Amino acid sequence: MTMTNQTPAIVVKNLSFNWANGARVLDACSLKVPQGEFWMLLGTNGSGKSTLLRLLAGLLTPNGGEIEINSPVGFVFQNPDHQLVMPTVGADVAFGLVKEKLSWKQIRERVREALEAVNLLELERRPIYALSGGQKQRIAIAGALARHCDILLLDEPTALLDADTQQELVAQVQRLVKSRGLTALWVTHRLDELDFCDGAFLLEGGKVVAQGEPKQIKEKLLQTTERES
Ligand SMILES: Nc1ncnc2c1ncn2[C@@H]1O[C@H](COP(=O)(O)OP(=O)(O)OP(=O)(O)O)[C@@H](O)[C@H]1O
Ligand SMILES: [Mg+2]
Repeated sequence: MTMTNQTPAIVVKNLSFNWANGARVLDACSLKVPQGEFWMLLGTNGSGKSTLLRLLAGLLTPNGGEIEINSPVGFVFQNPDHQLVMPTVGADVAFGLVKEKLSWKQIRERVREALEAVNLLELERRPIYALSGGQKQRIAIAGALARHCDILLLDEPTALLDADTQQELVAQVQRLVKSRGLTALWVTHRLDELDFCDGAFLLEGGKVVAQGEPKQIKEKLLQTTERES
């Protein structure tokens, strides 16, 4: 792996995390995501992918180790209905800005610019309930862009989407990362999504056990699946 000349946007060093009942999820877990790249995180059910993302977002506190990440961080959940809280698209994207001291005009500009970035400006006045699943995920991403997040953490954002919408979303995140110099870490179980990323991590036994070229990670996982079937 040659990552030496790239500045990492996310650094995780020897991270450990256990739940209150003592169950250890992460055990000396380390990884680096280079700035301006789109990386994916894979691993079996219960391997700790969501836990790791929540630690990165500061939603959980580690028991040991270090995290270096630039805030604000944008988080996109598997189920957008757990994320979108306001009645309309425009209000929802603006909602994330309430803590910032911005004028009404600045808020409007941020909202419109973010909606444009995900190609949904025409939906600004649309009620959230009238959106498709893929549109909801793009609104969640717009929320992060409006807050000027340089880092996107996405936890299985396509899990509830049909195949076409899934491809659209992953392609859109790839484009956003490249055109805006964002850094994204995307959790998935879907191997076809690996074609869109710059690199991938495989999480197993609380650690990253493989990382690098998406093609190699894909082959490794396909071999495992074949052995098991
Ligand atoms: N709130 C919680 N309290 C205790 N244990 C939890 C909690 N949330 C998750 N776990 C356990 O922590 C471990 C890691 O869970 P996590 O959700 O991070 O896995 P995951 O890799 O995201 O799995 P999946 O692919 O199913 O989403 C699992 O054993 C899970 O049962
Ligand atoms: Mg999960």
